[in-house]
This record gives sequence, C-alpha cells and structure tokens, in this order.
Amino acid sequence: MRILITGCSGQIGTELTVALRNIYGNDQVIASDIKEAAPEVMQSGPFEILDVLDKEAMRQIIRKYQVEGIFHMAAILSAVGEGNPMLAWNVNMNGLINVLELGREEKVERILCPSSIAAFGPETPVDNTPQETVLRPTTMYGITKVAGELLCNYYVQKYGMDVRGLRYPGIISNATLPGGGTTDYAVAIYYDAVKFGKYECFVTAETTLPMMYMPDCLKATIDLFQAPKANLKRFVDYNVGSMSFDAATLAASIKRYIPEFEVAYKPDFHQAIADSWPNSVDDSAAREEWGWNPEYDLDAMTRDMLQAVKIKVEKGEY
Ligand code: SER
Repeated sequence: MRILITGCSGQIGTELTVALRNIYGNDQVIASDIKEAAPEVMQSGPFEILDVLDKEAMRQIIRKYQVEGIFHMAAILSAVGEGNPMLAWNVNMNGLINVLELGREEKVERILCPSSIAAFGPETPVDNTPQETVLRPTTMYGITKVAGELLCNYYVQKYGMDVRGLRYPGIISNATLPGGGTTDYAVAIYYDAVKFGKYECFVTAETTLPMMYMPDCLKATIDLFQAPKANLKRFVDYNVGSMSFDAATLAASIKRYIPEFEVAYKPDFHQAIADSWPNSVDDSAAREEWGWNPEYDLDAMTRDMLQAVKIKVEKGEY
C-alpha cells in the first residue's frame, strides 16, 4: 500500500514514518510536512513539503504517488492551541477536512486520523474513562478533536469511507521532541534529569494523566490501521490506555536511576488543561476489536528513556 504521512516532522510523525517504511518499503511511504524532517526521515524515502491547508498541493501529491492510505498526523497541540486558538482551529479542522475530502474525491482506500484524551473535559468521569462518555472539552485543541471525531465518523457513515482513529494519551519518546502539548512535561523531565539533575515541572506532583511510550503508540497506530475492517465496530474514536501516573511517581521512577534528581513543582497555565483530562481510560473496545495490548510499563519506559537520552546528551544533541 502506498502511504502519505502528514506531519512527518512531529514527535509521532518522525518515528511513524520510519516504522511504516520498515513495513511497507521505503519508496511506498511518502513523508510530508510544512518543514523539513529529521535525517532518518529525509534520507530513507520520498519527502514533500506540504501545508495541509493547501488542498490542491495535497491532491497533486496524492496523484503523483498514487496514494492509497493516509496517516494524518499534522496538528496543533493543546498548549500552543491555547496560545493561538484560531491557529489550532484552522490547522486542525481545515487540514482534516482537506484530507477527508481528498480521500473521497481521489478514492483513497484508508485514512487514519488520531484523536486524543483532550476530547474529554472536566465533566467526564476521570478514572477508567469509558469509551462512550461526556465529550465537552474546554481547550480549543480538544474541541477540534471532538469535531474531528464527528467529521471522520460522518465520512464513514455518509460515504462508506474507511476512516479510523484513536484517542492518544500523552506520548513519551526520545527521537523527536514534542511540540506544544500539556503532557510534554513527561518527556522534558527525562532530558533535564540527565542533563541537569533537576527539573521544574509545570504541573503539580499529584497531577495524574494517562501516558504511553512511543513503541506502544506506533504499535497502536499501525495495528488499528491494519486491523480487518470487519472486526471494527466503531472506527474513529478508540480509547487506548497503557500506563497512568502522577508527576511525583514519574519523578520517583527516575530517582531510582539518578538518586540526586530533584523536581520543583511550579504549575502554570498547563495545570488547568491537565486538570480537565482523565487519569486513566477504559480501552476494552480496542482490546476486543483489534487486539490492543501495550508492552511498556513505567519502569521499562524509564530505563529505556534514560539510556536513549543519555546518548543524546553525551553527543551534545540536547
Ligand atoms: N499530548 C497532547 C497534548 O498534551 C494530548 O493529546 O496536547
């Protein structure tokens, strides 16, 4: 299958491009972004500069490479979105509608567009958040994610298209730094622990959020994309859980390897965003319908993250 990825320079896009090229072949996976990507993406296969708001440019790329599947990863995340709500609305909604309309017009076989725990809001039950529940987010990012789920579902129902999506928790990784999310503290903490032995955390010690390590994120994304359509009952909004911890527990897991590590908690505007999201999610639909089963727990992730980040710091890359 020939695949187009939007947002290939982002935290998930970078590693997803490499993972998909390993599965489908380097030439079969066309990476695109508004800016150049990491060397592992630029050097391993086709790359196109693409602004997802430019529908005709996207059409040309779909035609040029005879694209059959799209992973739509380009988006503005929660914290940046609160700084510039109209940018979040424009990129997240108009980018998505361009992908869906082109999918319909150019007969793209399958589209995957992620949603997020940000689709939930303060009125949603916080523990083991059900699959079907209140969706009244208070961030512009969350609003675009709920509207995006509804839109994707509309294209499934009205046009019989194959559009799939999952609600990512906070994603922790070490290849590309995340850009402008609220859960990003859980990435930054590892870098600062290794480099400085201390970290200033923008949420409180007790702030609990659902999180996932990148290898599990890639597995969830690709497994859902590849799942037999006949097995799916819902398509666009699967909860996917993996681990759930508060900031103090994350710090303690790092302290086990770096005993002198210190965290100062200085909550800022991120706190209200984090407080509006769940602690953990019920992902039984994903487990039943497409066999979702995460591998990493907090300690396994911490060991892996510290090793990888140490190498980056030693090379002077952070
Ligand atoms: N990681 C995202 C954010 O914090 C949530 O989907 O914005």
